[in-house]
Amino acid sequence: MQTLPGFRDFLPDQCAARNYIFARWREVARRYGFVEWEGPVLEPTELYKKKSGAEIVDQLFNFTDKGEREVALRPELTPTLARVVATHEREFKKPLKWFSIGQFFRYEKQQRGRLREHFQLNCDIIGETDLAADIELVALCIDILCAFGLTEKDFVVRISDRDFWTNFLREKNVSPDRWEELLQAIDKSGREPREKTAEKLGELTDPVFALLKSGGKSEKLDKVVDGLGIRGLADFVAIDVGIVRGLAYYTGIVFEVFDRAGKFRAIAGGGRYDNLIQQLSDGAVSMPALGFAMGDVVLGEVIKEIPRANEAMQKATASDRNIDIYIVIAKEERRADALTQIQQLRDRGYRVDYPLTTTKVARQFQTAEDAGASLAILFGDEWPEVAVKNLATGEQQLASRDDFISRVEALLR
Ligand code: HAM
Repeated sequence: MQTLPGFRDFLPDQCAARNYIFARWREVARRYGFVEWEGPVLEPTELYKKKSGAEIVDQLFNFTDKGEREVALRPELTPTLARVVATHEREFKKPLKWFSIGQFFRYEKQQRGRLREHFQLNCDIIGETDLAADIELVALCIDILCAFGLTEKDFVVRISDRDFWTNFLREKNVSPDRWEELLQAIDKSGREPREKTAEKLGELTDPVFALLKSGGKSEKLDKVVDGLGIRGLADFVAIDVGIVRGLAYYTGIVFEVFDRAGKFRAIAGGGRYDNLIQQLSDGAVSMPALGFAMGDVVLGEVIKEIPRANEAMQKATASDRNIDIYIVIAKEERRADALTQIQQLRDRGYRVDYPLTTTKVARQFQTAEDAGASLAILFGDEWPEVAVKNLATGEQQLASRDDFISRVEALLR
């Protein structure tokens, strides 16, 4: 029996790594004043057909449920967010700064960095048109990656502006109903052979490639970079008009984050989607919005690749897994006394483990070490005293039944 292609089992080590990523995501989002929310993992298929764009609709994990509803496992969070905001916006002061951590499903071809399920952190700001929000969002994205020990030498945020391309298409008198398809072609141009892109772009091929080569010019993009420069973050970003984003709903500044070495696919991506809420609510609610999502798969690979980041993760996950105290039951007659104390130690919040059945003392000490315990407490012949052993230093002291807990507290402080 194996997992389905593109799905993962999370054994304890992988779970620890995932929890490490979630904890950093949550901590930095909170540092920026974002609050957590969550939506359902199953949505009406229609929600994505309406606005995510052809690429995502092709990748839907969808089926008909027992009530004959067309449903899909969520491939992304943004349409759900737009629906929720359109329904509840009156209940909250603007701008909303919301984040969410959850699992997403895309029926993609499994490859390095791309699976059929992955976890994302989504951070979105709703109800603000000012460029200050775009800058804040990019700064948040950078600071999240820095929290993993990554630096400007490890990753770069490539920032672009969809207006740059829609202005170009307007100038060339291209009808707006062709824009989405052309933007998708420009988005893919960096990853596809030129001939394939040329087929889709037709007479626009040469001017598009000329713009991509020259890098283009945009006052708005310069302002974003300046805004990040004030915070000392300019070295983390580069203007790159080749970033267009595959999703259909983006309207302004867009960005994607890549490892500097260029080994992996995007670590994160996002941008402004000022019309999505209005479109999904059929015009009932109109609110500007912007956000990004960062996935756990590529990020996890980048962390493993960069020694500084990997060490930080190993250290944090090891200390998270370690127990505080291992109770060595050297004499079976002491098991009941040991259990009374174990209960008390656990009530105080310590992580405590002990052998469930009769076990050789040497083996118990080995287990204590393997579990990363700081202290071993031996219940044996000395009773009503116990031997408290500091496993790091090897020092051992006897403590009476009545005051060993305060000794333990002092040692573990
Ligand atoms: P996205 O670029 O489709 O954007 O996905 C964001 C990130 O999720 C990617 O950069 C990547 O790290 C990760 N990701 C996506 N698909 C996969 C996959 N099949 N396997 C592993 N990781 C994956 C969005 O989803 C937008 N809704 C982001 C957004 C939020 N825009 C505004 N607000």
